Amino acid sequence: MFNIILFGPPGSGKGTQSELLINNFGLTHISTGDVLRSEIEGGTKLGIEAKKYMDDGQLVPDEVVIGMIEELVRNNKEAKGFIFDGFPRTTAQAAALDAFLAANNMPIDVLVSLDVPEEELKTRLIERGKVSGRSDDNAEVILQRIQEYYNKTKAVEDHYAAQSKLAKIEGVGSVESIASSIAKVIERLTPVK
Ligand code: AP5
Ligand code: MG
Repeated sequence: MFNIILFGPPGSGKGTQSELLINNFGLTHISTGDVLRSEIEGGTKLGIEAKKYMDDGQLVPDEVVIGMIEELVRNNKEAKGFIFDGFPRTTAQAAALDAFLAANNMPIDVLVSLDVPEEELKTRLIERGKVSGRSDDNAEVILQRIQEYYNKTKAVEDHYAAQSKLAKIEGVGSVESIASSIAKVIERLTPVK
C-alpha cells in the first residue's frame, strides 16, 4: 500500500497531477473538493451546508470533511493506495487522518507539496473560471481561497515535515515534467507498480 497527499494552494495542479498518478500508479483518488461538489449537485443536506462555505472561499468545517474521508477510505478496501487531494487542509484534519490511518495500519508515505507563486495561481484560476462553471473560480473568491490556504492550510506542511514526510516539488512548468518529478519521489520511496 502507498498513500500520498497531494498538497498545494488552489490552482497548484493537485487535480491535474492526480489524474496522471491514477493512470501511472493505479492509486485511488480521493478529492474532498470533488466529493463536496457532487454533494452540492445532488442537493444533499451536506452539499447545501458545504456550499455556503465554498462559495465564499472558506474551508468547510473539519468534522464534515473528516467524516467524509473516513467513509471513503472504508468504502475502498480493495485500493492499493490512496491519493488524498485537497485533504488534509488543517492541522486538525491532519491529526485526524493520521489517527484514522494508523488505526487501520496504512500510514501516509509522503506529502508532495506543489510550489506555485501566487500570481500564477490567480492567472490559472481566472483562466479556468472562463470554462469551469465552478462558482468559486472568480477573482474575489480566488483571493479568499488563497488567503484561507496561507492562514489555515500551509501549516499542514510542517505537520508532515516533522514526520520527515514532506517532499516539495516545483509546480511551475509542463504538466508532464511536474508529473515526472512526482513519480521520482514515489519511486524513490517504494516500488508501487
Ligand atoms: P478544491 O476542489 O480542493 O479546490 P482548490 O484547493 O481550491 O484547488 P483547485 O481544485 O482549484 O486546484 P488544483 O490544485 O486541483 O489545480 P488544478 O489541477 O485544478 O476545494 C474547493 C473548496 O472545497 C474549498 O475552497 C473548500 O471550501 C472546500 N474543501 C475542499 N476540501 C476541503 C477540506 N479538506 N477541508 C475543508 N474544506 C474543503 O489546476 C488548476 C488550473 O491550472 C487548471 O485549469 C489546470 O488545467 C491548470 N494547470 C494545472 N497544471 C498546470 C501547469 N503545470 N501549468 C499551467 N497550468 C496548469
Ligand atoms: Mg482540485
